[in-house]
Amino acid sequence: MHRQEKILVIGSQGQIGTELVERLREIYGAENVVAADVKEIPKDQQSGIYETLDILNAKRLHEIVKTHAIKEVYLLAALLSATAEKDPPFAWDLNMNGLFNVLNMAKEGILSKVYWPSSIAVFGPTTPKKNTPQYTIMEPSTVYGISKQAGERWCEYYVNKFNIDVRSLRYPGLIGWKSAPGGGTTDYAVHIFHEALKTGTYECFLSENTALPMMYMPDAIKATVDIMQAESAKIKIRSSYNLAGFSFSPKEIGLEIRKHIPDFKITYKSDFRQSIADSWPQSIDDSQTQIDWGWKPGFGLPEMTADMLLNLRNQKK
Ligand code: NAD
Ligand code: SER
Repeated sequence: MHRQEKILVIGSQGQIGTELVERLREIYGAENVVAADVKEIPKDQQSGIYETLDILNAKRLHEIVKTHAIKEVYLLAALLSATAEKDPPFAWDLNMNGLFNVLNMAKEGILSKVYWPSSIAVFGPTTPKKNTPQYTIMEPSTVYGISKQAGERWCEYYVNKFNIDVRSLRYPGLIGWKSAPGGGTTDYAVHIFHEALKTGTYECFLSENTALPMMYMPDAIKATVDIMQAESAKIKIRSSYNLAGFSFSPKEIGLEIRKHIPDFKITYKSDFRQSIADSWPQSIDDSQTQIDWGWKPGFGLPEMTADMLLNLRNQKK
């Protein structure tokens, strides 16, 4: 009988980690998925196996991996685009050295599989903005984007040089109702739903026509599980795959919300995140995911909007 390999999710308390841990536990059993984060969580509030871990502490990472006989790691701990601009040296340290700590354990043969997410932030102002191809000009202008691009190069290098199994997706902006976003430029697309229900108004920190690639969280979790479950030979790209859901501007999502909340009003006041958004693509060509391992998103803007509002309303009851 196949014995399930133990999984460690680092950065488990964040926007993606919260939902990914839940899904991995459904699939592989709660006893096989260890959640870890730098956040201390009191024992009585832990919902499964939990370890406090600062990913920059390689010794503690080794201890946890050894204690739980971990073979597979999902490394989600990072500073996102907006937060990273506030402390570039720390963002570089966390985003790069956290990755090295995990890649080196795979190189030593301790881990058999690693998942590490990249982002649309690897692209920059000189990248073609529409239907951005997998292979194109990549000159990111944010600390976050530079760290993700360097991370992609290192993942591919480790795979080629040390024959390890690392898989990665360039997530677009992710939108979900179960957990709060953690300091990204695309976070407005989550906040807008909360404010629409609470106050009926939202002041957006991006201008009305700033279109960005986005994805509903259930699709992002599915893509993550799919790429990790695919046969290794099918994963042809070992830097990171372009991944697409749908694209919209603040004005377009505002109009979609208005179909459900007719009095909803959106106003615009751009801040420093505008220039980050302006440097990113408006839409992404992810045809390689379809060719290599059969990816297809389930949600478009109307389906996501209806589902977000339904779930947030139910949550508030
Ligand atoms: P998040 O900020 O919501 O969560 C990150 C988690 O990492 C937090 O719980 C935080 O406490 C934890 N963390 C921070 N420093 C740590 C450390 N030193 N050691 C251990 N844990 C630490 O981020 P997220 O949105 O869940 O993103 C997860 C990953 O996905 C990141 O690599 C991010 O770059 C990538 N990504 C996210 C999006 C998105 O829209 N959410 C899009 C593209 C890529
Ligand atoms: N959603 C992320 C951000 O805005 C993109 O990686 O930082």
